[in-house]
Amino acid sequence: MTIHLAFDVYGTLVDPQGMADHLRDDCGERAAAVSRLWRQKQLEFSFRRGLMRDYADFGTCTRQALRTAMSSYGIDLARAREDKLMQAYLSLPAFADAGPVLKELAGEYPCFAFSNGTPEALEQVLGANDLLDHLDGLVSVDAVRSFKPDPAVYAYARRATGAFDQPLCLVSSNAWDVIGARAAGLMAIWVQRDLDQPFDDWELAPSAVIHGLQALPEVLEQFG
Ligand code: LAC
Repeated sequence: MTIHLAFDVYGTLVDPQGMADHLRDDCGERAAAVSRLWRQKQLEFSFRRGLMRDYADFGTCTRQALRTAMSSYGIDLARAREDKLMQAYLSLPAFADAGPVLKELAGEYPCFAFSNGTPEALEQVLGANDLLDHLDGLVSVDAVRSFKPDPAVYAYARRATGAFDQPLCLVSSNAWDVIGARAAGLMAIWVQRDLDQPFDDWELAPSAVIHGLQALPEVLEQFG
C-alpha cells in the first residue's frame, strides 16, 4: 500500500520566524518577540474561528494577528507597511532541509502540501522557494472553510490527496497538528525542530519523531 504524504507548510517547510528580519525596522530588538506573538495569535485566531464556525481565510487571521501583535507592543503600523509585511509573508524562507527531502521523495511517495493557507498563498510561498515542482498537489483547508485541527479538514485531506483508505501520513513540526491528525486516524510524524520544545502532554503520540526532514526517508522505509 502506498503511503501518501501530507506536509504541513508553516513551521515545517517554511519558517514563519523568518518575518523577524522584516520586522527589525519596525520593532528593533523586539522583532523576534513580535514575530513569535504574531505566529501565536495567527494560530489562536484560526482555532477560534474554527470553534466559532466563523471562517475567514488564513490571510485574514494572519493580518489581524499582525495588527494585534504590533499593538500589544505599542508599535504603530501604517496600512502601507502592513500590506508590505503581508506581501513579505508570501515569500517566507524555506527550511534548508525542505527542498532536498522533497526532491528525494518525489516519485517514491505521493507528496502534497497540506495547510491552513489559501491555495494562492501556498502557491506563492512554495513557488518562491522552488518547492512547488516537487509536490503532487496542494491541499488547502479553504475548500472546507475550517482550520486544522478540525477533523473535517483531515478527512478532506484523505479525499483531496486521493489516499482515501490507504495510509495518509502528516509530516508536521506543529504538535497540535500531529495530535489533530492522529485523532482523525492519520499517521503523523512530528518534526521536532526545537529540541527544547517537548511534545504536548496528550493521550495521543506521534507515529514517529524526527529532528529534521532529512531523517524522513529512513523512517518511511521502516513503515514499509
Ligand atoms: C499550516 C500551519 C498552520 O497549516 O502550520 O501550514
